[in-house]
Amino acid sequence: MTQETATPMPSELPAGNARKVFIKTYGCQMNVYDSGRMADALAADGYVSTDVMDDADLVLLNTCHIREKAAEKVYSALGRLRETKKARAAEGREFMIGVAGCVAQAEGEEISRREPAVDVVIGPQTYHRLPQALRKARGGERVVDTEYALEDKFEHLPDPTRVIGKPRNVTAFLTVQEGCDKFCTFCVVPYTRGAEVSRPLAQLLTEARRLVDSGVRELTLLGQNVNAWHGEDEAGRAIGLGDLLYRLAEIPGLARLRYTTSHPRDMDDRLIEAHRDLRMLMPYLHLPVQAGSDRILKSMNRRHKAEEYIVLIERIREARPDIALSGDFIVGFPGETDEDFEATMDLVRRVNYAQAYSFKYSSRPGTPGADLPDHVDEEVKTERLARLQSLLLEQQQAFSRSMIGQTMDLLLEKPGRMPGQLIGRSPWLQSVNVDAMSSQIGDIIQVRITAAGPNSLFAEVAEG
Ligand code: SAH
Ligand code: SF4
Ligand code: F3S
Repeated sequence: MTQETATPMPSELPAGNARKVFIKTYGCQMNVYDSGRMADALAADGYVSTDVMDDADLVLLNTCHIREKAAEKVYSALGRLRETKKARAAEGREFMIGVAGCVAQAEGEEISRREPAVDVVIGPQTYHRLPQALRKARGGERVVDTEYALEDKFEHLPDPTRVIGKPRNVTAFLTVQEGCDKFCTFCVVPYTRGAEVSRPLAQLLTEARRLVDSGVRELTLLGQNVNAWHGEDEAGRAIGLGDLLYRLAEIPGLARLRYTTSHPRDMDDRLIEAHRDLRMLMPYLHLPVQAGSDRILKSMNRRHKAEEYIVLIERIREARPDIALSGDFIVGFPGETDEDFEATMDLVRRVNYAQAYSFKYSSRPGTPGADLPDHVDEEVKTERLARLQSLLLEQQQAFSRSMIGQTMDLLLEKPGRMPGQLIGRSPWLQSVNVDAMSSQIGDIIQVRITAAGPNSLFAEVAEG
């Protein structure tokens, strides 16, 4: 690798003149994690993060390609950034624009063609090379780096706990798995994130311990298909996500574990046992089903029937009776009839979700779904989505209301709006406001829920 010398390293810039980066994150939690790691990689190169776009010398858009609207948002944001770049050039000040994430991976060169103001396009597998890419771009090159790097990017990223001046939250994401081999016919992820790769056990245990040492109390394991994680233990025995959770649960100081997003096909017995045995594995599971009609599930290539999903949920509930279920749904997949849609409504009624995300089908070029016949009219999709969402909202509100009067543990995460008020998370991932003068962020306290608002709960400290 050639080291550029013409550009002063940011560490040589006078104090107070460090370059500033503003990262805008779109899409899923994997992108949230990646944005954090990009900030780490840039911090090691002398950049400081800023929340104010106008202060930034570098704006990075960490993008999502999942639905058409998500991708279009990126181009409209880039149009605005082009204007900022022009204004900065007039002042003689550097302003660089980078596009990372799944749109970068999917569209590569096309991004620089559509928006020449972009300096760097970098994919989800290569962002550890961001500092080099920026140096090249400063030398006048337009950089597009979206190959699947052979080296392991995680090995090349700085230790997150050593990045100076970075406040640590009490909760953290830990990517354990990336990519997807499932090829659901509506989905771009197998193309943008590539084949399934699991990070090795030892690497994960090390990163988890470091995070806990730096104050993290709750870890959320991430993967596009997190329960497909597999590895080997020290004895060379094949292990899965369930075993990984048992191992992480042994880390002293760690109080809570979560994981997302899972595929119903990969919910194995060991993982269900982990829900039964590990108190620190929180009773909340995001298990998308997408649709309730077997015909549509087949056409989506989900590779299970609706009834199998219901039976699976029953088994999970048997293992952990207080578990709350969350899901994802797509309405208006090609060929979806009224009857198919009613099957989705039935499934939702049977499962009774605590939380859910639902979307109109968005046809993605290059996916098999795009070539299917009988695309559903936009108005029909809109009407179905409204009905589904009102049912899901009813269930979600009923779940929130059922919390009133209950006593539960709360992990305090951040200050609330009022003095003396703190905001924490319930085991079921709800945001809870509590007056807790004598407690600190990072504490787990017992509270009693007093009221349920539209987006959060209210509580008082439980006596004794
Ligand atoms: N790996 C996860 C989902 C990743 S994408 C899983 O298998 O469940 C997140 C959600 O976006 C999906 O669950 C799906 O509901 C939705 N989604 C994906 N592609 C879509 C498309 N083309 N149109 C509408 N929604 C889509
Ligand atoms: Fe997409 Fe299906 Fe893979 Fe989930 S399992 S990321 S929906 S292809
Ligand atoms: Fe979007 Fe990529 Fe995540 S397409 S949902 S950011 S994996």
